[in-house]
Amino acid sequence: MFKTRFTELVGVEHPIVQGGMQWVGRAELVAAVANAGALGLITALTQPTPEDLTKEIARCRDMTDKPFGVNLTILPTIKPPPYAEYRQAIIDSGITIVETAGHKPQEHVEHFKSHGITVVHKCTAVRHALTAERMGADAISIDGFECAGHPGEDDIPGLILIPAAADQVKVPMIASGGFGDGRGLVAALALGADGINMGTRFCATVEAPIHQNIKDFIVANDERATNLIFRRFHNTGRVAKNDISDEVVRISNRPDAEFKDIQPLVSGARGRAALETGDIGAGLVWAGQVQGLIHDIPTVAELITRIVSEAREIARTRLATFSTAGEVR
Ligand SMILES: Cc1cc2nc3c(=O)[nH]c(=O)nc-3n(C[C@H](O)[C@H](O)[C@H](O)COP(=O)(O)O)c2cc1C
Repeated sequence: MFKTRFTELVGVEHPIVQGGMQWVGRAELVAAVANAGALGLITALTQPTPEDLTKEIARCRDMTDKPFGVNLTILPTIKPPPYAEYRQAIIDSGITIVETAGHKPQEHVEHFKSHGITVVHKCTAVRHALTAERMGADAISIDGFECAGHPGEDDIPGLILIPAAADQVKVPMIASGGFGDGRGLVAALALGADGINMGTRFCATVEAPIHQNIKDFIVANDERATNLIFRRFHNTGRVAKNDISDEVVRISNRPDAEFKDIQPLVSGARGRAALETGDIGAGLVWAGQVQGLIHDIPTVAELITRIVSEAREIARTRLATFSTAGEVR
């Protein structure tokens, strides 16, 4: 067992989190993660209304009696979703763990904290982690440049970002971006984290509610198969390389490119269609560099058992050998 400050804080068996994922973080996946002893997160904004979120939380409760949480992603948009109503739906449903992600989480963190909810704030920079800690976040999830989703604009890989954050963050911290196996879990713990958060790896599982073609696509891809999009609009996203993301990069490289030039290609509806129909070229498919370490589509329980036992084996044999090597000679 890898008992850490994080597993103690959120009351799960294994120091593994399934991060918020638009269109993917639904009850089927979250319940499977919870039943396997890790922390699953329902993605609030995947549900079209706060009432639908309430129903999705109830649906998840029907499939597990273990703890699970909800991700609330703060989007940099001029027409934001009704955040206060989503927050209220989360609170009224009796959820005790929330992952916030994105910029300026203050009103969300304060509201959740005032209802005794444990808040894990996900961010991509040490300075943002410290700000969230000052706001009262109970834990930090720190996302390195490798990650799927929004890695921020600093381009600091996990090998630097995680220990740099661990040096300063006092609350429990989980490492995110590029994790997919037991080696990653051991590395994260060695770098000072209290666990790992994974996104892409959970997409290639039996229970992920997405088309088989997308799962096979992730397995077939290697670590080079991602594109960075929205760079020039200061909202960088890492997605799988496909015809759409190649086209977005090509258009964005024009000196006079504006967001409206790529807008029709990057809509959420198109991304959702790709995941649901399995048409790889229908829209953006969010995935990270860890695709290069994903070679199969196990059940969530098989994946979590494998990661934990592999990590335990590395600690017991390989690392133990190194720690005593000096004495043997
Ligand atoms: C399909 C997909 C959708 C995602 N959507 C969100 C989201 O809506 N909100 C969020 O905070 N993070 C989102 N992420 C990021 C993940 O929560 C996580 O931080 C990231 O995947 C970690 O990197 P990894 O993919 O290398 O494990 C998404 C990731 C994927 C793969």
